[in-house]
Parts: sequence; C-alpha cells; structure tokens
Amino acid sequence: MKRLLSILLSIAIVAGTATAQTSKEEQEAFKFADKLIKKMTLREKLGQMQQFVPNSASVVTGPDGETRDIETYIREGCVGSFLNIKDPKELNRLQKIAVEESRLGIPLIFGFDIIHGCRIIFPENLAASCSWNIEAIERSAQIAAAESAALGIHWTFSPMCDISADPRWSRVSEGAGEDPYLGAKIAAAMIRGYQGDDLSSEKTIAACVKHFAAYGAPQAGRDYHTVDMSEVMFRDRYLPPYRAAVEAGAVTAMSSFNDFMGVPASGNKWLLYDLLRKELGFTGFVVSDYNAVHEMVAHGVAADGKEAAEKAMKAYLNMDMVDGDYISYGEALVKEGRISERLIDQLCREVLAVKYRLGLFDDPFKYGREGEKATYRPENLQFARKAAAESMVLLKNDGTLPLKDVQKIALIGPFADSPLDQTGAWHGWRQASRVVTTLAGMQERFGKENVLYAKGCESHKHIKGGIEEAVATAQKADVVLLTLGLGRNYSGEARSLTDISIPQPQKELLDALLKTGRKVVILLATGRPMTIGEEVEKANAVLLTWHSGTMGGPAIADIVSGDENPSGHLTLTFPRSVGQIPIHYNAKSTGRPQDPAKPTKSYLSNYKDSPNTPLFPFGYGLSYTQFEYSDLKVLTPVVEIGGEVEISVKVKNVGKYDGTDVAQLYVRDIVAETTRPLRELKGFERFSLKAGEERVLQFKIATSELAYCHIDLSFKEEAGDFKVWVGEDSNATLEGKFTIR
Ligand code: BGC
Repeated sequence: MKRLLSILLSIAIVAGTATAQTSKEEQEAFKFADKLIKKMTLREKLGQMQQFVPNSASVVTGPDGETRDIETYIREGCVGSFLNIKDPKELNRLQKIAVEESRLGIPLIFGFDIIHGCRIIFPENLAASCSWNIEAIERSAQIAAAESAALGIHWTFSPMCDISADPRWSRVSEGAGEDPYLGAKIAAAMIRGYQGDDLSSEKTIAACVKHFAAYGAPQAGRDYHTVDMSEVMFRDRYLPPYRAAVEAGAVTAMSSFNDFMGVPASGNKWLLYDLLRKELGFTGFVVSDYNAVHEMVAHGVAADGKEAAEKAMKAYLNMDMVDGDYISYGEALVKEGRISERLIDQLCREVLAVKYRLGLFDDPFKYGREGEKATYRPENLQFARKAAAESMVLLKNDGTLPLKDVQKIALIGPFADSPLDQTGAWHGWRQASRVVTTLAGMQERFGKENVLYAKGCESHKHIKGGIEEAVATAQKADVVLLTLGLGRNYSGEARSLTDISIPQPQKELLDALLKTGRKVVILLATGRPMTIGEEVEKANAVLLTWHSGTMGGPAIADIVSGDENPSGHLTLTFPRSVGQIPIHYNAKSTGRPQDPAKPTKSYLSNYKDSPNTPLFPFGYGLSYTQFEYSDLKVLTPVVEIGGEVEISVKVKNVGKYDGTDVAQLYVRDIVAETTRPLRELKGFERFSLKAGEERVLQFKIATSELAYCHIDLSFKEEAGDFKVWVGEDSNATLEGKFTIR
C-alpha cells in the first residue's frame, strides 16, 4: 500500500502537482488522459493545447506558411477549444465535426466570458461584492452556470480574482475590490457556484482563476502595464483570492497579460509552476490570456512566436489562447529538441482530464440540450432584482430618500433608459430587450403617469435643447432623480482613465436642475469609484446604483420607494482626487504618520493640498435606519497560537425602519516583523434587525487568519498584541485588544 502511494505521488510530481492531493475523480480523469495520449500524434496533442476564436485559423501560419480553414483544422485534430461563440447551433455544429470527423473524436471545450451572468445579467462584480452577501454571490454564479451550460458553454473565464486599489484601472468593475480577505471569500464562493459538487452535471461549468497574477496592480492604473512589487506585498495582499479559488477546486486558471517581476506571466515559470502548481496545489490547466503567448514578442522577451511558444510551454502553460503559436511551432520545437514530447504530454493530459471531468467524453452534446427554456427563470429574475438592490450603496441622504409624499418624479439623465449601460461590461449573452431599465422599473412601481422622463444629455455630449427639456420636466415634478456616471464603455477591459470625475455635460445638467429648487437625488451609474466630491456636496442624496444588470431598474425602484432598505457597503475606496490613487484602507503606518490634528504639518506623511482621507472609505454605506454598535467584548484576551480569538458585539437598530447592515471586524498587529496595515478586515457579518431590535454578534478568528508574509517569505502568525475594532466601516471606533502567545 505504502509503495502504491509513493508511486502515485511520483506520478503526481511528474505531472507537476507535487503538493496537490488529487481526488479519486481526478485520478480517474488522469488515467483516462494518459491512455488517450498514447494514441495521439504530436500534432494532435498540440491541437488540444490550442484555443481559437472561430475565424482565427486563417491567420495561423506555420513553418510551411500554411493557412487552413477552421473546419479542416478541427478535422485534423488541431483545435482543442473555442472561445466567444455565442450561438448554440454553431457550437453544436463544430462539436459534431470534432467528435465525428476527427481521427480520435476528442470533444472541444467551449469557453466564454460569463463574468456576471449569462442571459440574466447580475450587477457587475464590484457592485455584487458591495453586498458582502457571499451566499448570494455563490447563487448568482450558480444561475449563470446553469444558463450557460443550457446554451452549450462548458467553461467560463471567471472569477477575476485580481485585487486592485486603483479606480483608474477600468477592470476594477470585474473584481471584488481592494481587500484580500473579502476577495478570497468571494473567489471561493464563485468557484463553488460555477462548478458545484459535480463538474459533470449539465448545470455546472468549469471556472477559471484569473488573471494570474497581480494583474490588478498595473503602474499608473493603465491596463496591461508593468506590474512590479515586492514578493512580500504580493503574497500578503494579492495572492489570497487566487489561493482561495484554487483551494475551492478551480479546474482552470488564466495567465495574465502583465509582466511580473520582469517576466510576462505567460512565460513565468515561477508563477505558473512553482507557485500555482507546487505551492498552491493547482491540478487543472492554465490557458493564456488572449494572444498573451505571442505578446511576449512585444514585451521583448521572445524574438518570435516560436520562442514565445517555447517559453510558455517551459513555464508550464497548457493552452494557448488564439494566437496559434502552439500549433504553429510546437512540432518544430520538439523536432529541434527545444521542447521534450514528455512535457507536451504533461501539458496535454491536464487539458484532457478537465474535458473528461466535465463529462464531455461520455456525452459531448449534453451541454446545450436544455436550451433557452432554462434561461430567465422567474425565480432567478427575482433573485437578480434582490441581488441588484443589495449591491447598491447609499452614499448620502438628507432624508429625501425613501421618497415620501411625492406625487410626481422627474427621472432624468443619460443612464435612466439605457439597457446596454445598465448591463455594464462583459455582459455575457445579454439581450437588451430583456433588460428592465430604471425608467421601466420606476414607472412600474410609481405608475407611468407619475414618472416623467427626460434624457438631458448624453454621457459625454450635450443634446440640443436637452437641458431645457430636463429643467421643464423637473419643474413639473416634486423631486428629481438624476442618473449620472460612466456607462459601459468606461468599464471593463482597456478603458483606463486619468480622469474619473463626472463628465462636463452631466455636471451642467446637475447644476441646471439644482436651480429649479427641486430636491435632487443622484443615482450614480458606474463600474468604478469616481471623484464626486462636488456632486455629493450639492445633491440631497446619492445612491450608488452601479451597472445593475437585467433587473437593475426594479431594484432601484425598490430602494428609492423604501420597499428595500439600502444595505450595500463599499469594497473599493472612493478617492477625493485622482492624485490620491492608489488609496485603500489597509495602508501601512510609515515612520512619520500624519497627525490628524495637524493634517498638513510638514515632514509628516501627508499632502499639502488635500486631506489624506478618502471621500468614502472602504466598508462605508448608509441605511434608512441607524445601527448602534456597543459592548465590544474580547472573550479570549489571551490566545495560544493555533487557537481562536472570540469577540462579541451588541448591535441595535435604533432607527425607524427595519434594515440590514454589515458588521465589519478589523485588526491591527501592533508590533510585527514587517510593517503591517493600520487595519485589516478579518471578519464580517451581514445581519438584519427590525426597528428597535437588538442582537449580540459573535466573531471567531483563528490565529492562522492573522498570518502574514515574513521576511523569509514564510506565511505564518506570530505572538504579539493586537487591536480590534468592530463597526459599520473601516473607520469603526469601537475598540478592544487581545494577545497571541
Ligand atoms: C481578457 C480576459 C478574457 C479573455 C477572453 C481577454 O482580453 O483579458 O479576461 O477572459 O480576453 O475573452
């Protein structure tokens, strides 16, 4: 028995999974793959490692200058996967060619960016994270998986686990914000949601941990730009969500576009092999980001596509997305002795094993059978409405919300009736006609005749007579709801900005409406934090609605009417100005911390022209009711390493409305080996209380959750004194302390 175990372990090491514990199911999949590989030609193996979009095969030029159509390529076994096909019939047709007309009949795996929903679009991921509702996030991934699988998709390129504290970077909309602890919980929940307990079920799909690694920290917030940081910082702040996703069982991962410590991720063996496989125990396959293998030429670390393919293979990257370098140059690389066929076997077997686990070898057509009848289920639409409402964050309210004693509402602004903007970036298989806009949602709730609408301006352009029409509309109403912000074209990939303020035409619209004397509620539609200090100052209330998805309109109506009480809390800091970026709550002290009593004092760590504090901190969010936090008790003031710190706190709803809040627990390690953040989130609980009701919340923190990266790069907790705070945001003042020894 012992001998058998050691043989199994050595097989695992050859396969690059030295620390990974492979499950029985995976072992069976690898066994199957190993058998199949014996029958495959080198070219067929490389084919499994090649992904295309349907029209890209013609750009594949091999050493012989060949250009072939995609169907021939499939027949020859030169394609393992496609991405971005949005047509169930076409998926079926291509699968048929692969299964029935290629020599070995190996099924294709179809990938798609199902990022925040498939047919039903949920709020963008950053928005969803503001609900701090982990179960709901898992459920939305589950619904997205079921809809995608029903339409023929096997694999999503999600979750994006990139921590970022830079709202200039447009892809913050796809992540869970700035905090690694919350980010890790969300990443794991999304893996569970997509993959479920049984990957072969026709309701689950393969997930993809991306973008490995540290893609959320590009210099100057410019997409694809250089990422360079200490390994200590990387392990502490950026690695936890990727790690959590791998531990939750993600079967694929994606290498990022950026370089990391000087080496592009797709050719970075330390990242893809040493860290991802050996240390984190990942056993699935890694796909490159779009063209990222070939982009090593532009990065200046490969002379041509051939060298790029060589570097990526040696870095242990299994599948080449789109650029075709693997299929074009793989055979020559082996022939010339630059790559061993044994390495190709290893890379290929992990792809085959995932296909096997998805059940594609049993029945290549099982996904896609259910079709449209599995989409837009009424209970899922209801769920999306609730999820959208929970993601919204009330940033300011002078009592104007919820709307009371209001007959006529003027709904104004460029995003009030814009289904495309409402669904944001990466909108899956969205159908604009199924999106319930803010206008439709408001009219349904308040009556068509009571909701008067004018657009006022485009996002970045004036409309002739637009402001006049908006003002006239406002004058007929008791209150103005004004949608401002940035639409879908300012969210998602490649939309970095140096200016994240409200565009000028929208500012002018706001000012004109304020002059009418009506109360103005801003509904802020955006995929990222914005510098909105002036607008917050001027408006009566500001509700951050985000890009709220298919059911965003009714969700907004639920909140402004008071049918739902806002409960979202920010997961990404809102800066006062771009100059403060990156700004995040978990900053470190410095040797010269600012003196809050003298905020601009010289030779301390502050600005001469701005407070250090943000406009809205991490964790911030108002409610129509008020919650009181008291009686923080550290029940275990001294804890041994390996034990658990227990803390309780009393929460009471002292306002007039029933409501939901997110209690957040922060700690500070007072003296440590390396500098530690001033505060770190280490626990949270979403709770609901009726008006007047109170409850005691209990928190338990294992000392292992206080571990951090030491100078020798070990990740461990240590003895010492800690401060702890519990409250409604990262400025919580209720304080206690404990000691670990
Ligand atoms: C993005 C990935 C995405 C891929 C496939 C790339 O441009 O960076 O996040 O999954 O395209 O669409």
